[in-house]
Amino acid sequence: MKLWIQNGWALLPGENGPEAKQADLYIDGDRIVGVGQAPEGFQPDRTLAAADKLVIPGLINCHTHNYMTLFRNSADDVPFEEWLFRRVMPREDRMTPEDAYWGAMLGIMEMLRTGTTCFNDMQMHIYQTTQAAVDSGIRAFIGRGLSGTATDEGGARRLREAIQEMERWQHHPRLRFTIAPHAPYSCDGAYLQQAAEEAEKRGLRLHIHLSESVSEVENLKKETGLSPIAYAEKLGLFRVPAIVAHCVQVDEKDIEILAENQVSVATNPASNMKLGNGFAPVPEMLAAGVNVCLGTDGASSNNSLNLFREMGLVTLIHKGNTRTATAVSAGEALEMCTTRAAKALGMERELGSIAVGKKADLAILNLQEPQLMPWNNLVSALCYSASGYEVETVLVDGEVVLENREFRHIDAERVYFEAAQRAKRLGET
Ligand code: NI
Repeated sequence: MKLWIQNGWALLPGENGPEAKQADLYIDGDRIVGVGQAPEGFQPDRTLAAADKLVIPGLINCHTHNYMTLFRNSADDVPFEEWLFRRVMPREDRMTPEDAYWGAMLGIMEMLRTGTTCFNDMQMHIYQTTQAAVDSGIRAFIGRGLSGTATDEGGARRLREAIQEMERWQHHPRLRFTIAPHAPYSCDGAYLQQAAEEAEKRGLRLHIHLSESVSEVENLKKETGLSPIAYAEKLGLFRVPAIVAHCVQVDEKDIEILAENQVSVATNPASNMKLGNGFAPVPEMLAAGVNVCLGTDGASSNNSLNLFREMGLVTLIHKGNTRTATAVSAGEALEMCTTRAAKALGMERELGSIAVGKKADLAILNLQEPQLMPWNNLVSALCYSASGYEVETVLVDGEVVLENREFRHIDAERVYFEAAQRAKRLGET
């Protein structure tokens, strides 16, 4: 299919970060083949009229737990222990694989509706989350959440599931896999090493939570004398490319380790604030050269999977927290869920910006919205003014998966029905 996106604005890479310019876009199959200028002899099969619209690279959510979407708004305004042990874990125990499928589908709907075309997921129900990604048309990086020890059967089974699913879908154009040990407090050292060895052997990325809360850091220091970041380095986890969620409670030495090892950090501002964990030192990490990208975390600790809200937060909280109005700019926030996110996933040649040769993963926003007007600065508008629901049409791999806010592959009514029934059952004690 050859597609011409006509008469619109496009968010393009500029010398000092992303810039909005008027440019027609030309797509052939899954690739962008022209920006501003049609390739010779280009004959479109279809034209999308884009006057008064802005095309942006599809946003990339670098840390999610999509199966948890059914828990949204069910564990709020309670202390962390209450949240985890009395609200979330009992629901997880009652959850069936089919529940996870509908939870993942609901999460994917929210992401597509707000311009996210790719997510990096860690979850307990790998088959169902993968199937939801395949059915919906979104792009996904999937990691089976690993917990346990190197010697228990559960740990071995979870690692086996991760590998089986990866092998089942290895030729799928929109799926990639990670090795995703949950955290040092839920995996023993030998199991973490085993996970890293598996990732190294298969050329995969590692996806893990580190240094989320003060108590996590204190407990590990008592046990090992090391911070979670230093501990991970000592175990050899950073020998493979890693995406580390949170890094809230990190010190200067930790930041040095992250920078030296070229670790990517997925910061989750809403989740960290909601659970009372504080603020990751994002400006310091950026200054040290750490690749910082953005994630939402799961819907039970956010309670939204909307990266537009996260972009607004990551700029505002660090300006406020450091009393520095230049701490994180709108352009940097956008890079955190486009170019920097693509780099974190090892996909910088394929994803993250609108350029000839890259995958056609795009979101088209209606600019005729009061909150975006006047169009003084569209980069600022995306970060500080947009809600995400200005997104009308979304393409993944060159395929239109959302058009004029209608899903092409998802029966929205069915998803709402299933989600409501299942969330009610999971909440019953
Ligand atoms: Ni998480």
